[in-house]
Amino acid sequence: MTELATIGTLASMRTDGDSWDINASVGSTALFVAAARALGGRAADAPAEDPFAELFVRAAGGEWVDLLDGRVPDHPLLTPEFGIQFQQHQVARTRYFDDYLHAAAAAGIRQVVILGAGLDARAYRLPWPDGTVVYELDRPQVLEFKRETLAQAGRRPIAERHEVPVDLREDWPKALCDSGFDPALPTAWLVEGLLIYLSPAAQDQLFDAIVSLSTPGSRVAIEQMDPLPAEAAATAEQDDAGADWVRLIYNDPRGEATEWFTARGWTGERVDLTDYIRHLGHTPAAEQSLINLVTIVRP
Ligand SMILES: C[S@@+](CC[C@H](N)C(=O)[O-])C[C@H]1O[C@@H](n2cnc3c(N)ncnc32)[C@H](O)[C@@H]1O
Repeated sequence: MTELATIGTLASMRTDGDSWDINASVGSTALFVAAARALGGRAADAPAEDPFAELFVRAAGGEWVDLLDGRVPDHPLLTPEFGIQFQQHQVARTRYFDDYLHAAAAAGIRQVVILGAGLDARAYRLPWPDGTVVYELDRPQVLEFKRETLAQAGRRPIAERHEVPVDLREDWPKALCDSGFDPALPTAWLVEGLLIYLSPAAQDQLFDAIVSLSTPGSRVAIEQMDPLPAEAAATAEQDDAGADWVRLIYNDPRGEATEWFTARGWTGERVDLTDYIRHLGHTPAAEQSLINLVTIVRP
């Protein structure tokens, strides 16, 4: 197994206070999904394109560059049984959340919070209306890699961008408010590729915080995954990359986002990933998915 072929080569079981940079543990998942976005976005009919994904993956160097340049043909991101499906998943979710943010901007929302932002470059990539402020929350070293890469490439954000280095299991609302976030303004929250790396209790805390910081008219878009069935988890554990990833996630039953927010007076809808891929006019690479995408609004 090459170094590149594993997610989080140094991964071990998660603990409440664990931390990471872009090359280790949960941090390396940001690079992994960026690589999937870069590869999946190359198809002529790709439903979304994120040119920044390739910028970040090349900046990571080493075998990540070999992957992009076709020198690691057996990489997990290229296998028919996992990689092609995962690329499709990443590009489809990019499109879903891009459309969500376009709609939020069209509705007049000018405050955006991206939780577990990783290598999300939407502050640089989307045509934000004047006056839009984007807050990006992630671990300090992940944001540091991102900042240095973008600065070296001479890129400037389109929205006003604020980095908020935090641990999302701790008191991040205070750090967010200290960075200039205004809870009196309607906000578009984004929770993409994050929840499985939080325990169910930490997820509930995160949702509670979103509710308490959201004025009417705010909305949240969420990617969530049903727990892996025991058989699928056992299969994943049989190869190195899958085993490393399974050790990074909290594969426990947890609150379903649409029900959770609806119970607190928000209204929303969810779509299964495979149905959404069909809706985009593509054939899903997998018949079924554990992933669904949710948009919920506070009336
Ligand atoms: C799979 S990546 C997704 C990144 C980005 N949202 C995307 O879709 O490209 C997960 C991100 O969540 C961040 N993350 C996970 N748990 C976190 C925590 N407790 N505190 C801060 N960031 C966290 C990781 O550092 C990583 O950047």
